[in-house]
Amino acid sequence: MKKYNWAVLGCGKIAHKFISDLKLLPNAKLYAAASRDLQRAKDFAGEWGFEKAYGSYDEMVNDPEVDVVYIATPHSHHHEHTLLCLNHKKAVLCEKAFSLNGKEVAEMIDTAKANNTFLMEAFWTMFQPSFQQAMEILKSGELGKLKIVRSDFAFNAPFLEDKRLYNVELGGGSLLDIGIYPVFAALTSLGVPKTVKTFADFSPTGSEESINIIFKYADGSLANLTSSFAAHSPTQTEYLCEKGYLILNPRWFTPTNITIMKEGEEPKTLPKQHREGWGYQYEAEHVMECLDQALIESPKMTWKLSQDLIDLLDRIRIDAGIFFGDRDKNIFSEF
Ligand SMILES: NC(=O)c1ccc[n+]([C@@H]2O[C@H](COP(=O)([O-])OP(=O)(O)OC[C@H]3O[C@@H](n4cnc5c(N)ncnc54)[C@H](OP(=O)(O)O)[C@@H]3O)[C@@H](O)[C@H]2O)c1
Repeated sequence: MKKYNWAVLGCGKIAHKFISDLKLLPNAKLYAAASRDLQRAKDFAGEWGFEKAYGSYDEMVNDPEVDVVYIATPHSHHHEHTLLCLNHKKAVLCEKAFSLNGKEVAEMIDTAKANNTFLMEAFWTMFQPSFQQAMEILKSGELGKLKIVRSDFAFNAPFLEDKRLYNVELGGGSLLDIGIYPVFAALTSLGVPKTVKTFADFSPTGSEESINIIFKYADGSLANLTSSFAAHSPTQTEYLCEKGYLILNPRWFTPTNITIMKEGEEPKTLPKQHREGWGYQYEAEHVMECLDQALIESPKMTWKLSQDLIDLLDRIRIDAGIFFGDRDKNIFSEF
């Protein structure tokens, strides 16, 4: 079994959770922690048992022993940091949202191709056993045709104007942070919609705080999606079909279980299929399977899916009036 030297780029909140799951995998070596601040890198490395600590991202990508980098910076920095790693031939697993807009994601994918180096969006939901099970049931046709998807993700986040969630410079707003999950639920089950309609509300910094989104599809199917930093929601996804329904129970995007109702029968809840960890171990395991096969693109979380997702988020942002300043220049005229 080949062991891979992992590096983490950005020692923030999610990096801690991801690394606690990475530690569970026998073919992953916790090799390097990189932060803008050397002491933070040392503290992170010490806490989790990394071999190296770097006080800059540049130093880390210049270490020839690093095989694969987990990028855990704010979405505003994913484009820059992904290009940095790929141009140093480091395989990349980059957190969602993959970047701020579709043009930037296209450049990231082009850079992976140009360097013949692996790149995948860290969309962990795709790899949850419960999500995979839901997709299989829907595809099997036992519930008939899928007509409506209802999905939400909301929590009341304290208003801290400099922090990532409300800071427009850092890609703040509920849509790219948590609304991306309901959008993913609709995209992976119904595909790319014909029509997008939205209503959004904004915080005092100008960041989007709450959003309701409706998709309509060419065949008449619908999706009704919500995200918010102003209120709490059950955080579940409901797939409403002609012969019954399927619910990915709260918190639907993490390891969870499924409730299924077939016409004329009582709803039944299926047992949860999950092993130790938060749920990040599945995507990390998949990355190493891809590297074992010398792939540069995941066959599950494909580049096309990431591109479709961010392009759809761009369409939503245009309808809702959510802009990221100069970063969006020349992009929105295309629509
Ligand atoms: N998959 C999931 O379940 C999940 C959950 C939460 C978040 N996320 C995603 O992960 C990313 C990071 O989220 P987080 O909550 O971990 O953020 P966070 O705690 O704010 O950490 C982000 C880290 O990025 C680094 N960084 C580099 N440039 C920065 C800048 N200009 N401003 C602030 N930080 C900067 C910092 O690390 P150093 O100072 O050490 O360099 C910082 O600690 C986001 O894109 C988010 O969408 C995913």
